[in-house]
Amino acid sequence: MTVTSQRVFNFTAGEQGPWQIQSTTNVAGSPLPGASRLEVTANRRERTQSVPAWRLQGITSNDRYVTRAEKIALATRQPELGRSSATCAALIALRKQPAWWQLTQDERRAILEEQSNHIAIGMRYLPTIARRLYHCRDLADAQPFDFITWFEFAPQDTNAFDELLTALRRSVEWHFVEREVDIRMVQVDTI
Ligand code: HEM
Repeated sequence: MTVTSQRVFNFTAGEQGPWQIQSTTNVAGSPLPGASRLEVTANRRERTQSVPAWRLQGITSNDRYVTRAEKIALATRQPELGRSSATCAALIALRKQPAWWQLTQDERRAILEEQSNHIAIGMRYLPTIARRLYHCRDLADAQPFDFITWFEFAPQDTNAFDELLTALRRSVEWHFVEREVDIRMVQVDTI
């Protein structure tokens, strides 16, 4: 197994998996088919459900936009995935408009942070919310989304998570989002 394949994750929706899907909200663009369960597996070659409702792939990667000060602040505050108290999860799949990708790195950073405060807003929700960002654009198999974002939190923090989402969706950065699907889950089996 190569290092790269260890960073690739499959998100498979169907009838199996430890996460019970409670809602699938189509926020922008075309929807994903409904399903009852979701499983997240490492390694792109793994195939556990013969006919899934859908399968997405994403790869963990290096940071693109954070400053050194933000990187240090994030490292001290952000929790790991898999906390026993965090029995709720959200998978939010996003695609941004071609106009976003035509910008330069510094222009994208300016929209993400100086204009939208994405990192500053998000930081207020640490360590309540655990997060992981997966990139999809550069995988060999064409993917329908640019990003898969994954969040874990305790049931009593669902309102805080929704408040965070409302703030981000009002930002300038979100003007560039052309497809967004928001899937909420609860853990029913221990992984
Ligand atoms: C829990 C609090 C959050 C924190 C602390 C946070 C922090 C960050 C940071 C630091 C980055 C930049 C990574 C880089 O340098 O490449 C980032 C990117 C991103 N975040 Fe968040 N975030 C949070 C919540 C969210 C939420 C709720 C969403 C989805 C609705 C989201 C979606 C994204 C996406 C799609 C990117 C990639 C943007 C791009 O590269 O164009 N984040 N986030």
